[in-house]
Amino acid sequence: MPHPKQEQVARRAAELREQLFHHAHRYYVLDAPEIPDAEYDRLFQELQAIEEAQPELRTPDSPTQRVLGAVLAGLTPVRHAVPMLSIAAERDTSEAAARRFDARVRRALGLHDEDPPLEYSAELKFDGLAINLRYEHGVLVQAATRGDGETGEDVTHNIRTIGQIPLRLAGAEAEVIEVRGEIYMRRDHFERMNEQQRAAGLKTFVNPRNAAAGMVRQLDSKVTASRRLSFYAYGLGEVRGWELPETHSATLDALATMGVPVNGERAVVRGADGLVGFHAQIGGKRAQLPFDIDGVVYKIDARDLQQRLGFKSREPRWALAHKYPAQEQMTVVRDIDVQVGRTGKLTPVAKLEPVFVGGTTVSNATLHNEDETRRKDVRVGDTVIVRRAGDVIPEVAGVVLDRRPDDAGEPFDLFKRLGGKCPVCGSAIAREEGEVDWRCSGGLFCAAQRKEAILHFAGRRAMDIEGLGDKLVEQLVDGGAVRTLPDLYGLTADQLADLDRMAAKSARNLVDALDKSKRTTLPRFLFALGIRHVGEATAKDLARHFGSLNSILEASELQLLEVADVGKVVAQSLRLFLEQAHNREVVDELRRLGIHWEESDGTADRTPKPLAGKTFVLTGTLPNLTRDVAKERIEAAGGKVAGSVSKKTDYVVAGEEAGSKLDKARELGIALLDEAALEALLAS
Ligand code: IVH
Repeated sequence: MPHPKQEQVARRAAELREQLFHHAHRYYVLDAPEIPDAEYDRLFQELQAIEEAQPELRTPDSPTQRVLGAVLAGLTPVRHAVPMLSIAAERDTSEAAARRFDARVRRALGLHDEDPPLEYSAELKFDGLAINLRYEHGVLVQAATRGDGETGEDVTHNIRTIGQIPLRLAGAEAEVIEVRGEIYMRRDHFERMNEQQRAAGLKTFVNPRNAAAGMVRQLDSKVTASRRLSFYAYGLGEVRGWELPETHSATLDALATMGVPVNGERAVVRGADGLVGFHAQIGGKRAQLPFDIDGVVYKIDARDLQQRLGFKSREPRWALAHKYPAQEQMTVVRDIDVQVGRTGKLTPVAKLEPVFVGGTTVSNATLHNEDETRRKDVRVGDTVIVRRAGDVIPEVAGVVLDRRPDDAGEPFDLFKRLGGKCPVCGSAIAREEGEVDWRCSGGLFCAAQRKEAILHFAGRRAMDIEGLGDKLVEQLVDGGAVRTLPDLYGLTADQLADLDRMAAKSARNLVDALDKSKRTTLPRFLFALGIRHVGEATAKDLARHFGSLNSILEASELQLLEVADVGKVVAQSLRLFLEQAHNREVVDELRRLGIHWEESDGTADRTPKPLAGKTFVLTGTLPNLTRDVAKERIEAAGGKVAGSVSKKTDYVVAGEEAGSKLDKARELGIALLDEAALEALLAS
């Protein structure tokens, strides 16, 4: 006779399982969580604690059983109760293939032209790995791979870590229901995973299918749990104690009701026209789907007709896999080029014998970086596998080594290939310790990096040029109006007003903003140059330490290292930038055009602080200073800038269109300054 307290705990455990079961389904399958993650974790931990104290309350379908870390000795073979068959694949991607299939089925069923069209369940052909999920009395008891169709491998430990797979079927108590479907990895998860592998200098996976298969067949389920796998059901295996619906589509609907993920891109279509329409419709969407498919699948929807049609060798006569153009193809590498990205990153690119892949002809494919090129050992002359899926740029997924010709090129060496110079601007290239990418040091001088450099220069925390955004920079650079940063200051209102979608007023405003930006601070100017590793904080440190731009320009690496927080990486990057003559020219030219700031000759400690202890409030628009610059200069002189006027305010700096703050200052009798008066005070 169980203790009443004991009974209460058992009831609570069941309740928690119920709730977690529900919320996991909302989160993983419906993508619509009802509670925050933290709350889910709390419920989860409560259940975990109960089960730890009383292991006899632990059930195999408990959500706590998903995360298993045990390393197993090997995978156990599993004999399938019902063999896992495959479907006849039609490689002819034209609509004729669908029509032939319909005609074949009609003939086999003895139908005549005047008989009504057949109904098909049309579905996606997921490109992953087939799995059999065995549920007994609604509880997941075993998951097995397809193997040879007769015997697969027991991968229950890994499958339990996949959040989308229910550990228990909702409202299904049948003795046995085997759910069959595909384990796959979404393309974005795959990309991210490879990105991480690359950053860590590790081997990447060829495609999402291989990655998923590798993970499912892992012995260590911790590895599986850390990657994101997904699942869609497409059919059944052994069933006992459940009355099957009469059609395949209704069976999938029933599975969805039980909490099993079933893809929504499916339809019941009529006749050959229906098949052709579905193939075309999905073909148009293929690139936008978040996962890979290699075709669509047509299945006679009515179960009785399926039974009448039966099997031919190991394939059902009632189903067809109708393919799309492959997303992977073999071709030959003619050359390896290097491209310069917007931020100066150098990317090796394979120049290919043109090949039709993923629906278009591809003649360039990324090799990502030098290390990866070497890891895959891609050489000129090699036959490679090119992959192009969705919107992802084509990549070389691997080399077919046994096709390597005797006269294949040397192992790839990026520095040697470029002779140490950026292919766009000729600046020195560098690869920092611990980084996977080589970079061009040309920065604002390099045409490939021009747009990015200008946007950075104009940014709020840099020169703060209001109105100089993405689209405009694009037009200015592409139209040839701006090649280097100094060109910006030569732009006229008329010239700007001629651009697309540019009103005369905005053109004038931009010229004003450019003019205003000339009065800046040394840290802002340094930061605006976009020198790698010289962020806002470093720019401030440098300005404080050296006091003037000239002292920075002349500083040796050793002198730079004297600055607090400036290490070897920053010092080298600065020297590299300053050693390029063209960078010095840009700096000189900008100053010649009137960009200026207050300088001090000594260190910060020697800088006078005329405004120490004084509190300022800024209001309205000043004629020459942006608000940020005014604030920085007041602060540099030791003053404080507050947001609102109070008795503690010493000065209110008022510009045009000053509002209530000005009224308040008058009311309290606080000293008012205009820009000229502020300048005078700063100079005192
Ligand atoms: S039905 C007897 N439906 O394609 C029919 N299979 O050769 C059993 N696949 O390895 C399979 N999407 O893993 C079916 N909607 C779908 C599918 C699908 C992908 C895979 C399956 C199997 C192969 C069929």
